[in-house]
Amino acid sequence: MKICKSISELIKLRRSGGLGDIGFVPTMGALHSGHGSLIQRSVEENDSTVLSIYVNPTQFDNADDLANYPDKNQADHTLAESLGVDIVLMPTYEQLYPDLYRYFVDEKEFSHVLCGAHREGHFTGVLTVVMKLLNIVRPARAYFGDKDQQQLKLIEGMVAAFFLDSQVIGCATVREQDGLALSSRNLNLTAEQRRQAPNFYKALMTSLDDDEVAAILSQEGFKVDYIQTINSRRYGAAFLGPVRLIDNVELNAGLNVGLNNDVQRKVAQ
Ligand code: PAF
Repeated sequence: MKICKSISELIKLRRSGGLGDIGFVPTMGALHSGHGSLIQRSVEENDSTVLSIYVNPTQFDNADDLANYPDKNQADHTLAESLGVDIVLMPTYEQLYPDLYRYFVDEKEFSHVLCGAHREGHFTGVLTVVMKLLNIVRPARAYFGDKDQQQLKLIEGMVAAFFLDSQVIGCATVREQDGLALSSRNLNLTAEQRRQAPNFYKALMTSLDDDEVAAILSQEGFKVDYIQTINSRRYGAAFLGPVRLIDNVELNAGLNVGLNNDVQRKVAQ
């Protein structure tokens, strides 16, 4: 496995033609089995797999969250190698943002609801870095987890809107046995918060309406950003201490609560 710390080195390797069809798994590191499932699928479906590890500052609206984002480089490399990754791309800010973020990709509708309504500029940062990475790697296929479903849909929309020549593949959320969706941020939960955290998923899955779910979570000590059901899918974000958990679950048909037609239309696109 090759570790590429420079974008130009990666581009040189790609242009040499030896990588064939590239599968791409963009990450911010602190890899867990959710990332592992994306990597495995990429290794199965492509001639070579590129994994990027880059904690992208432009998508953080909170300096503490950025500073506390877990860093597990050595363990990440060991896992990536064991799963068959060919190249790990680890660019620097200076390489990725030669324009100092003067240019960016902005989406005007769906990026402003759900997480976008609570994290100023978050999806602009995500879309911009993913656009840059897709242009650098030029993968046949790029893999993203369904836990961040809003991110996945926005990236699908961007790839279509800009005629990018990569297929976006969404992969199912991987959960702990107790239902908690895997996330790098789970590493920052205390033992007590880790014990409480699955209640977030369990509350999302109930047949209560969104406001009732939010009320129950608040009683249990979560600080709820939003609980919102759109087209039978319930999305939620809530803090446990400093850790922000997000998740989404499919509800039974007929459980569409508190829907706004405009938002439904955007999600359905
Ligand atoms: O999902 C993530 O880890 C990040 O948002 C991504 C897609 C790697 C962009 O920085």
